[in-house]
Amino acid sequence: MINLENTSLLKDKAYINGDWVKAKNSHTFEVTNPFNQEKLADVADLEVEDIPLVVDTANHAFQEWKNKTVAERASILRKWYELQLENAEDLAKILTAEQGKPLAEALGEIKYGASFVEWFAEEARRVYGDVIPGHGEDKRIVVIKQPIGVVVAITPWNFPNAMITRKVAPALAAGCSVIIKPSEETPLSALALAVLAEQAGIPKGVFNIITTTNASKVGQVLTDSPIIKKLSFTGSTAVGKQLMRQSADTVKKVSLELGGNAPFIVFDDADLEDAVQGAIASKYRNAGQTCVCANRIYVQDGIYEAFVDKFTKQVRLLKVGNGLDEGVEIGPLINSKAVSKVNHLIDDALSKGGKIILGAKSESKPNTLYPPVIISGATSEMKLAHEEIFGPVAPIFKFETDEEVIKAANNTEYGLASYFYGNNMKRIWKVAESLEYGMVGINTGMISTAVAPFGGIKESGNGREGSKYGMDDFLEIKYLCFGGVV
Ligand code: SIN
Repeated sequence: MINLENTSLLKDKAYINGDWVKAKNSHTFEVTNPFNQEKLADVADLEVEDIPLVVDTANHAFQEWKNKTVAERASILRKWYELQLENAEDLAKILTAEQGKPLAEALGEIKYGASFVEWFAEEARRVYGDVIPGHGEDKRIVVIKQPIGVVVAITPWNFPNAMITRKVAPALAAGCSVIIKPSEETPLSALALAVLAEQAGIPKGVFNIITTTNASKVGQVLTDSPIIKKLSFTGSTAVGKQLMRQSADTVKKVSLELGGNAPFIVFDDADLEDAVQGAIASKYRNAGQTCVCANRIYVQDGIYEAFVDKFTKQVRLLKVGNGLDEGVEIGPLINSKAVSKVNHLIDDALSKGGKIILGAKSESKPNTLYPPVIISGATSEMKLAHEEIFGPVAPIFKFETDEEVIKAANNTEYGLASYFYGNNMKRIWKVAESLEYGMVGINTGMISTAVAPFGGIKESGNGREGSKYGMDDFLEIKYLCFGGVV
């Protein structure tokens, strides 16, 4: 059980039109703690038949919400932000219980998640239009921006809180209503956000949560609906492509934050200690289960031995265990399927000449804890050079020249995050401009913030979340052409 101050945060029903509702057929699904498989809740398992109500509700609510003044919307969002901070400890406990990440990291996610709400409460006031010099003496042109309509947000289990607020806050700020489909692994964090949304005064029907294990059937109904104008998805590239295909018939605006294969490059002139700290922060955040985690660590030959030695010594000290225990830095993987996938990538790397210099392949255990692994002698033939590892495995590649490493780093269909460490200013600009990624961390392994445009290129997706650009995906541009003005 989760020990909370504010027990009202724990819900097990879907949240539709301001009501907590069961599935029509009363089905439920179990949510468990990935550390010890303890049951946390039986949550309403909605079916296709439950969806039309939520779509109608969100559409109805949109008509009023879009007409509120920005000041009204901003103040409700601000209240929601404050409630998230007031309840941060409890929200973090719920997050750790259902997702596994260490409590301190979960608290970091709650604050990160809330920062999007704070940011977009402010950005709501800056949805400016334009006045364009007309194309005739009697013509005047004015550009206005309007909310796109009902938005569906499909969110992942690795950030059960922040991926919701990062999508929902700009949507609400713009004047859209939202339907959120959280991962079936982690619906409790989403439902807790709904409790606070209601308390903050977000009107009925503007913020809805559908909990379900029937993701593909429900996804089909949502993408088929002409009422839904926008889909925002974070998850795998395969599912993202499928949702994009399904959205084609209704020409929905789609934003996708998909898989990554982040290169992390350490040049000879890098500050060694900084590079090691950056690599640990990037690789082992959330036990390696983020789309922006370092996936391939490239180290130049002059600094290779020193880097590997220092990195290994420091990674060895990371404490693995129950995320609720004091001092734990790496929690469990989300489920046994995730463990099998990581094992498979390690087997493949070893069969192609890789050498484990720290850790070991996970043996089957009652829990899904996976102590960190470092593999030296990594090569581009290995699967882990092309697939998102999503686990605490750090493959280290040796390189000689800038050209060689840029080519290797870009040799992937993904283009989300990338990182490099070095001090030569000319090289910094050259490498930063050459990396085919939406985000480049230079002498830092931590790039995520509400103030910057998070997103990828190539098959890592489209659209940007956070920052002033994050509003654009939820707005339509319209121009008004006035004639006969003189
Ligand atoms: C993700 O892994 O999808 C998001 C990571 C982040 O926001 O830093």
